[in-house]
Amino acid sequence: MNIVIANDHGAVDLKKKLVQWLTKQGHKVKNLGVDTEDRVDYPDMAALAIEEFGKGGYDFGILLCGTGLGISMAANRHKGIRCALIHDSFTALMAKEHNDANFIAMGGRVQYREKPEDLLEIYMNATFQGGRHAERIAKLG
Ligand code: RB5
Repeated sequence: MNIVIANDHGAVDLKKKLVQWLTKQGHKVKNLGVDTEDRVDYPDMAALAIEEFGKGGYDFGILLCGTGLGISMAANRHKGIRCALIHDSFTALMAKEHNDANFIAMGGRVQYREKPEDLLEIYMNATFQGGRHAERIAKLG
């Protein structure tokens, strides 16, 4: 898959871990996030990734900040973006099956009970179910 990723200073280690995992699996990753803990603003990082995603050719995007909260809020203000803040295997699965999320968000300062790589894999292997879910997504505009 072709994936765009961006992060703020609150998720440098998580970003590195996910990029390493994705690359090892043979996926192509465009890293637009920061690699140091110098402060940046998560709305700017979301905007960078969304602009790149809008150029086309990407399967989905990953957005990371300290909690995943701010950067998912920022992403969802952009038209056409459905960014799902996932935190376990159920929400990772539903993000694709029900919401057809084109971005997922996680937090670098969050203690997940499951490995973030595993959540990512569940999302990536899932399939959008369409039907009534497509009708609901259409209402998001
Ligand atoms: C940055 O300190 C932090 O506020 C940010 O990474 C994120 O957690 C916001 O939602």
